[in-house]
Amino acid sequence: MVKLNEVHSLNTAVVQSRPLVAVFFSTGGIASYTLRALATASAANGGKGFRAYMVGRKAKPAEDIISECSAIYPQGQFKFVKADDLSLIRTVDRVCAEIIQLEKKEGQDARIDYLMMAQGGSIFLPRKDTAEGIDVTMSLMYYSRMRIIMKLLPLLLKSTLPARVVSVYAAGIEAKLYPDDLSLRDLSHYSYSQARSHMVYMHTLFLETLAEQHRGKLGGLIHIFPGLVLGPGFSNPELPRWFRIVWHWIFVPLFGRLVTVKPTDCGERMLSLASPRYPPRPVDGSKSQKTEEIAIGTDGGAGTGVYSLTWNGENNLNAKAYEKFNKDEMRRKVWDHTTKAFDAIEAGKIFIE
Ligand SMILES: NC(=O)c1ccc[n+]([C@@H]2O[C@H](COP(=O)([O-])OP(=O)(O)OC[C@H]3O[C@@H](n4cnc5c(N)ncnc54)[C@H](OP(=O)(O)O)[C@@H]3O)[C@@H](O)[C@H]2O)c1
Repeated sequence: MVKLNEVHSLNTAVVQSRPLVAVFFSTGGIASYTLRALATASAANGGKGFRAYMVGRKAKPAEDIISECSAIYPQGQFKFVKADDLSLIRTVDRVCAEIIQLEKKEGQDARIDYLMMAQGGSIFLPRKDTAEGIDVTMSLMYYSRMRIIMKLLPLLLKSTLPARVVSVYAAGIEAKLYPDDLSLRDLSHYSYSQARSHMVYMHTLFLETLAEQHRGKLGGLIHIFPGLVLGPGFSNPELPRWFRIVWHWIFVPLFGRLVTVKPTDCGERMLSLASPRYPPRPVDGSKSQKTEEIAIGTDGGAGTGVYSLTWNGENNLNAKAYEKFNKDEMRRKVWDHTTKAFDAIEAGKIFIE
């Protein structure tokens, strides 16, 4: 476990090393805690400044967190970017184009050092397709996120950090996989838990391909389970009624204090993912020594560029789950499936595979 005092040291080094350009897809919970951690660490440790973009549907929560963080650290630059519905790939494309335009104004300095994707929180819903043919939940928590990385790659590759990519969801919860029905079109395959399992496998496999394509230049590419972090997401009216009752009337009163991660700690931990503890895949294929200072990657080696993490910053990959198939083949399959979805939608078609 990465201890909190170590997290604080890592964050001090991060904010003192360079002015961070950070993009958050979400105006709520964990994204807002991370932005607050960035402002707080910068104010307390002589940070070098930062530019932060918050992308979301509603201006109000973004304005609230931005005004709070501006008060903490007036040298920070903040910008809200409106996105109507991030489950649509065409919305993602429009928003990413807007971010690229905004960053271009910085000239040579245009870049992204830290990208957090934490959009979507509605869970345990039945399958519902977007107008583009992807299940809404799977799009918010997987497809839209991989599309964001692809679209923002030109800016991510300009970071000298190199750029960290953080997808906040459910790393480590791999279960069953239907290789011939990755979209879970067959309704007898679909449940929220099954969709979650597919999204977790697909995160690991897609990110591994990206890490290989951009050795030394992109990453760590991180998928993280944040722990249970009590925030506005759990009062979301889109959540099924049974879930809200069990959560608010039974789970939180009985176990809340024991098993939850405090929002402040969560934000600080998320910021520390920008530290050298999570490096990109080495250019020459060399292996790092296993030490406390370097995280274990999804292939079991130290510092290998893709990280499946639990709330405390340590590896939580369900490695056994990947032994059930040929990983190279599955990596290609997931890449082809995902890029095919993007190509179909970009061509104005509905994705049907
Ligand atoms: N918090 C936890 O305990 C926990 C545990 C495990 C996994 N996770 C996962 O971690 C991620 C972040 O969690 P969180 O607690 O920060 O969630 P959250 O507070 O619910 O924030 C989610 C954000 O996503 C936005 N969003 C939802 N649907 C959208 C859509 N169609 N288009 C654009 N934006 C949309 C929400 O915007 P609106 O305000 O407009 O709704 C909100 O800003 C989620 O994917 C969640 O499932 C969280």
